[in-house]
Amino acid sequence: MTILILGALEEEVQGIRSAMENVTEEKVGAFVVWRGKLNKKSLLLCRCGIGKVNASAAASAILTCNPDVAGVINTGVAGGVGKGLRRGDVVLGTKTVQHDVDSTPDGLRKGQIDGFESEFFDADPALSAQLIRALTREGIPYREGVIASGDQFIASDEKANAIACEFGALACEMESAAIAQVCALYKVPFVALRAISDNGGDNAIGSFYEFLHTAAEKNVRAIKRFTSDIETVIG
Ligand code: ADE
Repeated sequence: MTILILGALEEEVQGIRSAMENVTEEKVGAFVVWRGKLNKKSLLLCRCGIGKVNASAAASAILTCNPDVAGVINTGVAGGVGKGLRRGDVVLGTKTVQHDVDSTPDGLRKGQIDGFESEFFDADPALSAQLIRALTREGIPYREGVIASGDQFIASDEKANAIACEFGALACEMESAAIAQVCALYKVPFVALRAISDNGGDNAIGSFYEFLHTAAEKNVRAIKRFTSDIETVIG
C-alpha cells in the first residue's frame, strides 16, 4: 500500500523528493509522478501545480491509475487567516471547504457542492492522528482546524477576515479542498497539512515569497517523521 503526497509548487515537494530513495519517474496523464520509498514506506509524490483544477486533475489521474493508494496527504503553505497564527506554524486541516463555491441561490450552503451533504470535507482521523504525533515528536507548533481553498491568492485584510468568519477557517490556500472532494469521490482517506507563509492580508504576497521555503520545510520534517513512525497504514 502506498501514500500519495500532492503539493502545488516545487518548493513544497522538493524536500520530500530529495529524501526519497529508489525514486523512479513516471507520467500519469499530464503529470509527472515520483515513486519511491521514504523510511522504507512506499510513496507517490506529485507537484500538481497551483489551483483547484490542477489539484483535482492530478488527484483523479493518479488515484485512477493507482488503486493501491491508501491515503492522500496534501502538503504546502497557506495564508494564516485565523487569529494568533504565526508564520511557520502548521495547520492540520480537520476539515476543508471551497470558499469560492456559491450555489446559495439554489438552496445550498456557501461552499457546498451539489451531491455532498456538507460544505466541509472531513479529514481522515487515522491519518490526522499520525500526523499530529509526527508534529508533536518534531516539536513543530501546530493548530487543528478548517482550511479553506479557492482559486484566488488571498492578499487583502478584508477577504482574509471574511474567509475566517464565514467558514471558521484558520488557513486559506488553493488546492486542499479540491483534493478532498476527489478523495471523497474515490473513498480514499485524506488530510491536508499546511505551513503558514503569510496572513492572507494586504502584504501577503511579499511574506509568501519570503517564507515559502522555510514554511514548506516544516511539513517536510513532519512527513519524514510520519513515514518513519507509521507502521500500519502503509508498508
Ligand atoms: N498559499 C499561501 N498563502 C496563500 C494565500 N494568501 N492565498 C492563497 N493561497 C496561499
